Amino acid sequence: MIDLSVNLAGIQLKNPTILASGIMGVSASSLKFVEENGAGAVTIKSIGHNERFGHHNPTVYAWEKGIHNAVGLSNPGIDGSKDKIQKSIKILKIPFIGSMFADTISNFVMVAEKMAVLKPAIIELNLSCPNTADDLGRMYASDVKMTYDVISSVKKVVGNIPLFAKLTADVTDITEIGKSAESAGADGLTAINTVSGINIDTKLKRPILTNKVGGLSGPAIRPIGVRAVYNLYKAVKIPIIGTGGINTGEDAIEFIMAGATAVGIGSGIYYRGIDIFKKVTTEIEEFMKKEGYNSIEEMRGVAHKN
Ligand SMILES: Cc1cc2nc3c(=O)[nH]c(=O)nc-3n(C[C@H](O)[C@H](O)[C@H](O)COP(=O)(O)O)c2cc1C
Repeated sequence: MIDLSVNLAGIQLKNPTILASGIMGVSASSLKFVEENGAGAVTIKSIGHNERFGHHNPTVYAWEKGIHNAVGLSNPGIDGSKDKIQKSIKILKIPFIGSMFADTISNFVMVAEKMAVLKPAIIELNLSCPNTADDLGRMYASDVKMTYDVISSVKKVVGNIPLFAKLTADVTDITEIGKSAESAGADGLTAINTVSGINIDTKLKRPILTNKVGGLSGPAIRPIGVRAVYNLYKAVKIPIIGTGGINTGEDAIEFIMAGATAVGIGSGIYYRGIDIFKKVTTEIEEFMKKEGYNSIEEMRGVAHKN
């Protein structure tokens, strides 16, 4: 009997696939649809301290190696999302991950307090989008001290809800940030967010996205994500949600063999449809049968042994 379940910081998942943040919004019906299509858990689009409209179009561009977006963290804010979050948690049978961001530490604490009251299974701090209040363009996870300060402050107000920090690979050494998050009290890490890049329209002679710079996701970034997880696994003891370019079961297994406890899937929905969660889980199971693994646990981190 093959066991596909995983224990993620004390939260039990029936399989390791998780809807990544930002892909299917916050509404209960879309999250339920993801559950029906086989996900082990769902993450909502990051919710901030107030309503935000995001950047002007074009904000998303699908190029041949992946997706490029600069949506600009558009969201209704924590007060405008409360009812939807409550409804989602009520109707979902699988764990709900509340992703959030803010510009200042006090706003992070305020949003986290309001999110914690709603009792998500996990709170994920999106520290990997450029949204600091000081110079509007830094990411909390680009700096060891900022990472420590925001996590240690938020940790005080979330009670026993596991706290995850979502990191970026756009740093010199992600393990320094991961270690800082762990020592500040993070119960887990999510790696990676999108990777910063520019695509230029050679006919119009200007960047394609209105914001010029955007985040790359999809197949192009998978080896960057796997490297981040591989290095973090050696540096920290807390569990990691490996994310970035997962389209198939074997892609997911790369992350698990690098050390991930669970895997996030976002852009893959664009490539393989909403039932990608079922497809990836079936492909993981087929691989395990063929290779003689009985549990996900047995596969975790094996790439470090060979
Ligand atoms: C359109 C779009 C919106 C996103 N919005 C968020 C967000 O609100 N918060 C967040 O933490 N990550 C966000 N992400 C990043 C994804 O959660 C994920 O980390 C990244 O896309 C890499 O995974 P993938 O290649 O499977 O998409 C977004 C990605 C895309 C493509």
